[in-house]
Amino acid sequence: MKGAKRYTVTAALPYANGPIHIGHLAGAYLPADIYVRWLRANGKDVIFICGTDEHGVPITIKAKNEKVSPQEIVDRYYQIISSSFEKFGISFDIFSQTSKEIHHRTAADFFTTLNNKGVFTETETEQYFDEQENQFLADRYIIGTCPKCSNDKAYGDQCEKCGTSLSPDELINPVSALSGKTPILKKTKNWFLPLDKIQTEFLNNFINSKKDWKTNVSGQCKSWLNEGLKPRAMTRDLDWGVKVPLKEAENKVLYVWFDAPIGYISATKELLPENWEKYWKDPETSLIHFIGKDNIVFHCVIFPAMLHSHGGYILPKQVPANEFLNLEGEKISTSRNHAIWLHEYLDDFPSKQDELRYVLTSIAPETKDADFTWKDFQARVNNELCSIIGNFVNRVLVLSHKYFDGFVQPCSFTEATDKNIITEIKKIQIEISNLISEFKFREAQAELVNMIRLGNKYITDSEPWHLIKTDEKRVGEILHICIVLTHNFAVSALPFLPFTADKIFDLLNTNKEQTIKNGTKLNNPILLFEKIDDEKIEKQIEKIKIKSNVKIFDNPHIQKSSIAEIKPNINFDDFVKTDMRIATIIEAERVENTEKLLKLTLDTGIDKRTVVSGIANHFNPQEIIGVQVCLLANLEPRKIKGIESNGMILMTENADGQLVFVSPSVKAMNGATIR
Ligand code: MF3
Ligand code: ZN
Repeated sequence: MKGAKRYTVTAALPYANGPIHIGHLAGAYLPADIYVRWLRANGKDVIFICGTDEHGVPITIKAKNEKVSPQEIVDRYYQIISSSFEKFGISFDIFSQTSKEIHHRTAADFFTTLNNKGVFTETETEQYFDEQENQFLADRYIIGTCPKCSNDKAYGDQCEKCGTSLSPDELINPVSALSGKTPILKKTKNWFLPLDKIQTEFLNNFINSKKDWKTNVSGQCKSWLNEGLKPRAMTRDLDWGVKVPLKEAENKVLYVWFDAPIGYISATKELLPENWEKYWKDPETSLIHFIGKDNIVFHCVIFPAMLHSHGGYILPKQVPANEFLNLEGEKISTSRNHAIWLHEYLDDFPSKQDELRYVLTSIAPETKDADFTWKDFQARVNNELCSIIGNFVNRVLVLSHKYFDGFVQPCSFTEATDKNIITEIKKIQIEISNLISEFKFREAQAELVNMIRLGNKYITDSEPWHLIKTDEKRVGEILHICIVLTHNFAVSALPFLPFTADKIFDLLNTNKEQTIKNGTKLNNPILLFEKIDDEKIEKQIEKIKIKSNVKIFDNPHIQKSSIAEIKPNINFDDFVKTDMRIATIIEAERVENTEKLLKLTLDTGIDKRTVVSGIANHFNPQEIIGVQVCLLANLEPRKIKGIESNGMILMTENADGQLVFVSPSVKAMNGATIR
């Protein structure tokens, strides 16, 4: 394999304000890991860099809601995220954090260099300011009416109802999310990267020279350039982030998209304090960024503009961005909890990392959006991993043990069919390598399965189970060939299915370097994969339905949730007096002339009853039909606005202070007692 002398491979730094779901994995981390494992297997000098992106306004909002420091939030999610990646075998050389001192220093120095070179333009603009809170408001902290769809809960950067990107001055009747008051406009100076200028002197040529970029990537870049870039502020009036290293810029931090990509450099410094420069400054190093499509402009335009303006750095050679992964036909949504979280997957499917890796690569959104469904997951695991791959490996081991006590027999490799299959294996291996080098992981993995299909045909055609009666020596040869194929399969599978490849090496009593030797004793067969039954899949589908049934209204004024003190002790008899049951909401309507009340009809498994609940501000009646809830069933009936209410539904708050139902984690029986 030819290629560059050295590789710096990065995967987008995930925001440290939530866990990782399958969309993240399929979008950036899995393809990056396959690519890096393949480079390493080819003896390449490569570093694989990642970490959490710990600045930005959503993190401060979350911290405010939970009444903890932003650092506490990011440290918490750093742990969850890094442990998920580790469990799925994402083999970073370093997984760092942008709140570390080394990063603050690196990012601040980068800014200083650009500033000393006169790269920035300093411009005064008018920004919204909350007089009561005495601070400038980030776009996310401003709420108003969307000019496009009249949604009155649009944010200053985006309307989540119609998806339009906005700037705060476009909002009608803006209010501060901190105080609920109308903000004033106040002058402030910020440091702008003149992207318009950099476009003509550098970016147009840079992008045009990238003939081998994926079309979805260069297409997006060109449309940005065609529209004409505008200067963009690289400093912000906020307090969470990397402080701007200037006396006159107190209370300002670097724009999160300025500091985050520099995080790749800081993490490299942390990993290789003595040697980091050759990975960032030597033209013989290929810099490759794996990202999702929402990150394209930052990695293909803004970061290169920063690196170019700084000087001395190499520029990205490739940015193989993926499109999005949907789930069961709908966009993955973290706020609606329409997602499969990696840590939850592993709870439900322990040690089935390769199964998910396999399916996500099979459907990778490399050229267009793709859809993950549980049925398809089941079909691919059962029909491909079990029936093709697992079955072949198992067959070879079982026969070797049956006929030869598990010992590898000699083989002369002189039969035409043997020579043929060895040639075919080599061809497939070269094809896999070529496809990986072009970032076509999905096709590459399909070739891997073809290798096993080859073996299946070979063994079926040569019928060792008949031949054993007449020509034991030949059967030994046939199995030898099958074992060679299995070994080659494992070597090629390493980047894709690292856990399975290791299991195969163990079974064959070998490793990735060693070839198969006569006389080697194979280990006893184990099943590489097991079939996943319908019940398990139904459960997962149900889980998604329950979770995403409830659409929560965005609450404009961020509620401050507080954790109440524990009440005085009660005894067990006090507790058993309460009768709490599972019930399903079957009807819901607003109570007329009230603001807060919903009249709900519940199926309790025993009766159908009415409960009046003060949740109308938080839920749309149509969207809670079918949701299972916990009901305090023996609360004395009470008349509310003339309606008799029979019981009370248990509610709680999520971390964003939004009201949510307490629902069973999987579908339960109506009427089931809660103990
Ligand atoms: N945190 C960003 C996201 O998840 C990605 C940052 S990539 C970096 O969309 F280059 F800026 F670090
Ligand atoms: Zn809108």
